[in-house]
Amino acid sequence: TFLLNADFLKKRMQIASLVARQPSTHKGSYGHALMIAGSQGMSGAGLLCAGGALRSGCGLLTWALPEALARQMTGHLPEAMLVGAPDDGSGNWTEGARDTLLAVSIGKTSIGIGPGIGQFPGGQQLLKDIWESVGGPLVIDADGLNLLARDFKQLPKRNSSTVLTPHPGEMARLAQLPIQAIQENRILIARTFAVEHQVTLILKGAHTLIATPEGEVFVNPTGNPGMATGGTGDILAGLVTGLLAQGLNATQAACIGAYIHGYAGDLAAHEKGMNSLLAGDILDKIGQAFQ
Ligand code: APR
Ligand code: MG
Repeated sequence: TFLLNADFLKKRMQIASLVARQPSTHKGSYGHALMIAGSQGMSGAGLLCAGGALRSGCGLLTWALPEALARQMTGHLPEAMLVGAPDDGSGNWTEGARDTLLAVSIGKTSIGIGPGIGQFPGGQQLLKDIWESVGGPLVIDADGLNLLARDFKQLPKRNSSTVLTPHPGEMARLAQLPIQAIQENRILIARTFAVEHQVTLILKGAHTLIATPEGEVFVNPTGNPGMATGGTGDILAGLVTGLLAQGLNATQAACIGAYIHGYAGDLAAHEKGMNSLLAGDILDKIGQAFQ
């Protein structure tokens, strides 16, 4: 078990080369992430994770969302490209989005799915199809995890990296254990799960843990209880997706993502106070956290 610190992020995680860009590079040098997020009433989750991905430094970001919602979101995040997927007519996901999502995933250097997608008819099958059919690194958060939880043990191993970002309640559903059992044995449960399922796990909450498929566990020292407010987790999912898009491996993306997310939360809390901190304040501090 290793406690993350800035020195380690520099030496082993190569954060310096991420922050200092080579002069001759262009947006194609920094990857193209796809975020599948948001639904009617939860557009904010999509905006926050798309924002997290953009602040990570990825070259391009495509945000896929239900088409009725895509029409409403036009102009709200000008840096993102929007893809409207066939929906129920009211901005909710349906399994009819499958072909659009699989088509738009081609050529993307990472894919994130889950924040604000809700649980919807056909959702379990849609998540399974994405798990099995998309190549490349995949980040799954929030309802993406809840939709996969019931069948998690039956899923085949993926050929590229998979990062899961559960909070303790989502972890409880994935591991089929009570939340209290998770919280009493965070390190052991995270490591066992990551090794058994060959995934990189970010088990969130005070002292977020990162467990790797090789059985390493990293403890994140940054962050504060001001971050216990809706939307902060969505930013982390976007940040990790955007880091993967740039070619970092899953361990690097998870460790840097969790550390920078918490650090940005600490900077935001210093400025706004923990009780008044909003998720959007964290987005605004990601750049300073990287510096
Ligand atoms: N100390 C440090 N970090 C914290 C603390 C704390 N006490 N509390 C929360 N955090 C951090 C977590 O580590 C994580 O990165 O804030 C983030 C919270 O992420 P989530 O729990 O995923 O919360 P979020 O998704 O933003 O909002 C809650 O989750 O279960 C759903 O439906 C629920 O809409 C709700 C949403
Ligand atoms: Mg969440």
